[in-house]
Amino acid sequence: LAGEAQDAFTGAADRDALEAARVEFLGAKAGRLKAVQKGMGKVDKTDKPAAGQKLNSVKKAIEQAFEQATGRLSASDGKAKQDAFDVTLPGTPVRVGRLHPITQTIDRMKEIMGRLGFSAVEGPEIEDDWHNFEALNIPLSHPARDPLDNFYLSTATKTAGAGAGPDGKPLLLRSQTSTVQIRVMEQCIANAVASGAQPPVRIVSLGRVYRPDTADATHYPMFHQIEGLLVDKGVTMADLKSVLRMFCQSYYKRDTDDGSQEDVHIRFRPSFFPFTEPSVEVDINWQGGWMEIGGAGMVDPNVLRAVGYDPEEVTGFAFGMGVERIAMRQHNITDIRDLYTNDVRFLAQF
Ligand code: PHE
Repeated sequence: LAGEAQDAFTGAADRDALEAARVEFLGAKAGRLKAVQKGMGKVDKTDKPAAGQKLNSVKKAIEQAFEQATGRLSASDGKAKQDAFDVTLPGTPVRVGRLHPITQTIDRMKEIMGRLGFSAVEGPEIEDDWHNFEALNIPLSHPARDPLDNFYLSTATKTAGAGAGPDGKPLLLRSQTSTVQIRVMEQCIANAVASGAQPPVRIVSLGRVYRPDTADATHYPMFHQIEGLLVDKGVTMADLKSVLRMFCQSYYKRDTDDGSQEDVHIRFRPSFFPFTEPSVEVDINWQGGWMEIGGAGMVDPNVLRAVGYDPEEVTGFAFGMGVERIAMRQHNITDIRDLYTNDVRFLAQF
């Protein structure tokens, strides 16, 4: 029996085969050794001691053979593992995900404006006529409402229903984040009525806007704006300029070779927006020249009135700047389309 067991164990090619052999010979219930043990009862009393000894030595031999076979298999397992692991092979690179450069820019802008005391709010991307135009002092005849310059959901619908707002006028994908100015001021007034206090408004809103421009290096039908609004007693244009200057300096803060910090300049150019008076266009110095980054101005009294403020009581400033523009200057990106092609070879650089 010991010989047979030894053959079976050494012949076992893998762990399963060895286990099957172990059950056959050493199995506690139906193993062949057990069967011999059971047969011991029938052995003559006088022969018992000798038979017992014999049984013990057979058992030892089988167990030893089993142990050897186990050792042999583990050794070859280890060898197989060693063969499979070639330390000279190049490793599999781990791909780490990262935030989109525009998301990084937005987070940074929120952080900077947050330090200046502006809280970040959001507004809907599908807007109604009131928030995108009417309350912003953009009259019905204004060219900014042109269907060719806006993504109306349904220009055909003139009654409340699909594609139309509460006033029956068509909804659209907002063309500017200035819509959020109106929403925030309305909310503030509603809160003020409830609480009896008229809190100053100090917010930024960062989000997508949509205009049916043909995509080229500097245009894309969807882009992001950062909108800012401050309404309080005695707000002046000087506050607007210093906030924007501080914002740009913090955003672009870079150490120069001589250890000083690079100076960032902004300038205002007179301009026109229906919802600010006076209005300016904001430029930032760039490569020896100027680059336009957005519009700004003092909130037009008509806008303050439209949402229920008294322009004799409070004044405010507002600004709206292109997030992509600011990010492109930062990273020297020359084509806005690169930001939205989602080529990881491009995106992985930021
Ligand atoms: N909404 C304007 C635009 O999209 C920018 C702007 C915002 C101008 C706030 C003045 C005040 O061009």
